[in-house]
Amino acid sequence: MRAASSALHRAFMFDFRPAPDTPKPEAYRQLLDAADALSAGEPDAVANMANIAALLWDFLPDLNWAGFYRVVDGELVLGPFIGRPACIRIPMGQGVCGVAAGKGATQLVEDVHAFPGHIACDSASASELVVPVVRDGQVIAVIDLDSPSKARFGEADARGIDAVAKRIATRV
Ligand code: SME
Repeated sequence: MRAASSALHRAFMFDFRPAPDTPKPEAYRQLLDAADALSAGEPDAVANMANIAALLWDFLPDLNWAGFYRVVDGELVLGPFIGRPACIRIPMGQGVCGVAAGKGATQLVEDVHAFPGHIACDSASASELVVPVVRDGQVIAVIDLDSPSKARFGEADARGIDAVAKRIATRV
């Protein structure tokens, strides 16, 4: 009985973290593979967003928030995330998330305090990356990453997260 239960635990344990010295492009390839493996064949959008949020949190160093806002009836509504409790609804076009969703364009913000209209959900946030998730030409959600370090995110991060957003667009 004990053996069966520990076998079960092993079967459901995931450790996707890259080795600490993994170059960024390779780390993002691994992240994409892990996001794919975690969500392939699973039709439940909440389960998939929850696991992708946890994966991003686990995988990417120096974050204080990682998760989703979903487009619901023309505004953004908080989805699964890891981090401190956050604002629940964001009007389209407002804040970093609302601009990303409204324009359908990734927002790479080196200093959130310099971004007009930034919505501070956690005072620790210093930089932010928001990537739209697009399905059939419509923005259906955004992936939001916050860091307590200024300029934490760069173009390689934006490309890596965009690849994840494209891969999971039909699964969230
Ligand atoms: N800072 C975001 C709000 C969401 S939190 O960062 C989790 C914004 O300006 O849209």
